Amino acid sequence: MNLTENPKPLTLALSKGRIFDETLPLLEAAGIQVTENPESSRKLILPTSSPALRLIIVRATDVPTYVQYGAADFGVAGKDVLDEHTVTHPGGLYQPIDLNIAHCRMCVAVREGFDYDEAVRQGSRLRVATKYVHAAREHFGRKGVHVDLIKLYGSMELAPLVGLADAIVDLVSTGNTLRANHLVPVEDITNISARLIVNQAALKTRDSELRPILDAFARASGAVQ
Ligand code: ATP
Ligand code: PRP
Repeated sequence: MNLTENPKPLTLALSKGRIFDETLPLLEAAGIQVTENPESSRKLILPTSSPALRLIIVRATDVPTYVQYGAADFGVAGKDVLDEHTVTHPGGLYQPIDLNIAHCRMCVAVREGFDYDEAVRQGSRLRVATKYVHAAREHFGRKGVHVDLIKLYGSMELAPLVGLADAIVDLVSTGNTLRANHLVPVEDITNISARLIVNQAALKTRDSELRPILDAFARASGAVQ
């Protein structure tokens, strides 16, 4: 990259934890190393081994917002987060690559012993707690099940245990969290993985800088472009 032409480094938005951890090998495949760990550093802007790229560390649910408004040129976000974001903020984001990382599934789960099928058959109005209200509304709407949705921001598994909800819509990977809380999955809604998202204006104006990284990510994740 010719720094005299565009001195501002590209900005990649990541969240701490699994998205950061699982994006590191993709960055390495693009020849980029990150020396600071956001778990131990309090810095929110992290340099990389390339002066042409810096990282910003934001909440997982905020990644699409930073990219859509152009505060980051590109970012990595779960399909769960992206689908919720797109309902309220359509447009402005290009999603070129399924990165094949952070795999899990979105499920409906209930307390062991709760007869979900019978409750649905009887047409009972179900109380459902979730962070994913749009996905849940669409899922139950498609099934014709009446639900009262309760928005939560985490620890959804607690809701059926303390009488806040009959069911939850949450992400499941190993199933350990459900089992530890005596919950069982009763319906799969969708498979989830993390996607690369790119600001549409950046895609046009900074294509030559973005392209090598996007290509390396696509190759490393096995995505077909
Ligand atoms: P926020 O901080 O904004 O509330 P979060 O705590 O859900 O977000 P993470 O737990 O790091 O953030 O999850 C980031 C993404 O990783 C999710 O959006 C989802 O796509 C994926 N994910 C979540 N849970 C799992 C899991 N158990 N296994 C694999 N991937 C997961
Ligand atoms: C996610 C999700 C479940 C858990 C499922 O939580 O919300 O609670 O993972 O994974 P498992 O099936 O492998 O147990 P996370 O670990 O991200 O915690 P948080 O949402 O509270 O940050």
